[in-house]
Amino acid sequence: MRTPVMAGNWKMFKNVAETNAFFEKFKPLVASTTGREIVICPPFVDLPVAAWAARDSNIDIGGQNCYWENEGAFTGEISPSMLAGAGAKWVIIAHSERRQFFGETDETAHKRIVAALAAGLKPIVCVGELLADREAGNTNSVLDRQFRGGIAGLSSDQFANIVIAYEPVWAIGTGKTATPQIAAEAHAFIRGLARTKFGPQAADALRILYGGSVKPENAKELMAQEEIDGVLVGGASLKPDGFASIVNY
Ligand code: PGA
Repeated sequence: MRTPVMAGNWKMFKNVAETNAFFEKFKPLVASTTGREIVICPPFVDLPVAAWAARDSNIDIGGQNCYWENEGAFTGEISPSMLAGAGAKWVIIAHSERRQFFGETDETAHKRIVAALAAGLKPIVCVGELLADREAGNTNSVLDRQFRGGIAGLSSDQFANIVIAYEPVWAIGTGKTATPQIAAEAHAFIRGLARTKFGPQAADALRILYGGSVKPENAKELMAQEEIDGVLVGGASLKPDGFASIVNY
């Protein structure tokens, strides 16, 4: 069976003091939680503090992005090995906000995935359509393009170590959640792409997370879908009690 991944993406929220305060409250709320992987992805500067706060717990830490070189003259960038050295085990790649505001493409996403895997990180690779794509009936062709450009070029070994997050852009931060059925359909489509490219076993093992306005109130019905193997949570991951109730749905 696929172990669910319950991941929080803090985006550009919380400083060091706020990070410490979060973990103080959050840790005991999930201390007895088993059967799922819990991941918090804070801003880069909070990573060491988060990793220290989460030591000896069932909580993993992740980055929100990484560059594809290990070091060099790339002012302002952070490498996968730096993330690993700071205590991160995961990294979000190609979040729609990176695609929208920072020029991320399927091609650069692919480079980041390969580099992250080489550093021993587990990439959470984001895909998802814009509202206009969905309204024009292009959801599947967008997912197909993102899969082909970012993911299909991986080896089977590489593919076995990634997680995909389906995040319809129209549901992110809007309060509009995809219905569990809409999400499950997209997940099944993505799993079909994985089956065609990497075979049935790899597709069955692939964890596909849903993201987009996940809240304590809707986590349970989303997680009830067999196709949904976890969640990537933005806004609702900032509050320890709220995120704990999502994790413990
Ligand atoms: P949201 O963000 O939960 O605030 O909609 C999700 C995400 O962007 O990962």
